[in-house]
Amino acid sequence: MYSDDLINSYPIFDTHAHYDDERFDSIRDELFHEMHQNGVCGIVSCGCDEASSKRALKMAEQNDFVYAAVGIHPSNIDSGTTIEQIRSLATHPKCVAIGEIGLDYYWVDDNKPQQIEIFERQILLAKELDLPILVHDRDAHGDTLEILKKYKPKGVVHCYSGSVEMAEEIIKLGMYIGVGGVVTFNNAKKLPDVVKIIPDELLLVETDCPYLAPVPYRGKLCHSGMIKYTAQKIAEIRGTTTQQILNLTAKNAKNLFLIK
Ligand code: NI
Repeated sequence: MYSDDLINSYPIFDTHAHYDDERFDSIRDELFHEMHQNGVCGIVSCGCDEASSKRALKMAEQNDFVYAAVGIHPSNIDSGTTIEQIRSLATHPKCVAIGEIGLDYYWVDDNKPQQIEIFERQILLAKELDLPILVHDRDAHGDTLEILKKYKPKGVVHCYSGSVEMAEEIIKLGMYIGVGGVVTFNNAKKLPDVVKIIPDELLLVETDCPYLAPVPYRGKLCHSGMIKYTAQKIAEIRGTTTQQILNLTAKNAKNLFLIK
């Protein structure tokens, strides 16, 4: 029932999703079942504070192919969630990353020092636990890059929106670059040039669902099956096939998150 034309595109590994969002409440179980039947082999659902991290872990407990990331999102630093709470959730066997964490100067930029402090403390936590991080960077490219260069964590810059030059620096650090549905939008200006230069072994695909559904579903409720269209566009840009991009990115995700 969720877009018949998505059937038989596999394997799809969605490295960044928010399936705890209430928009999925009435369809979640059926959607998970149907996606898994149709080639979605892995999903990382991310937390933004303690409550959503717990919800991500619960979905991961209930669905073999779903994994969780736990963390404090830069827009949620006033949620009351502490680093100690995240540390304790991160020991769960299905927690594969600390995220989503990072900097967001688009919504609020008068609390930069606090955002930076929470970001840095979570990077240190990830390093201590030997987990990768899922990085959110919105309108904060300079500070984000500086912090990544300082700590050299493992992980991915999700829904990449920076310049080619910044992508080159991230690649040098050995970090992955997550490409989402935005690459299919007509107004994605710099992203196609970035997609051209990502080495095979550092490319990941993602949805950030429920947001950012790719064309032809732009504006609709997004789900991981739609990654087929994101992969199609990436393949077009890189001069290869959709299948090759799906195979490659699923393998990369399993390498990053240490999933067999
Ligand atoms: Ni996200």
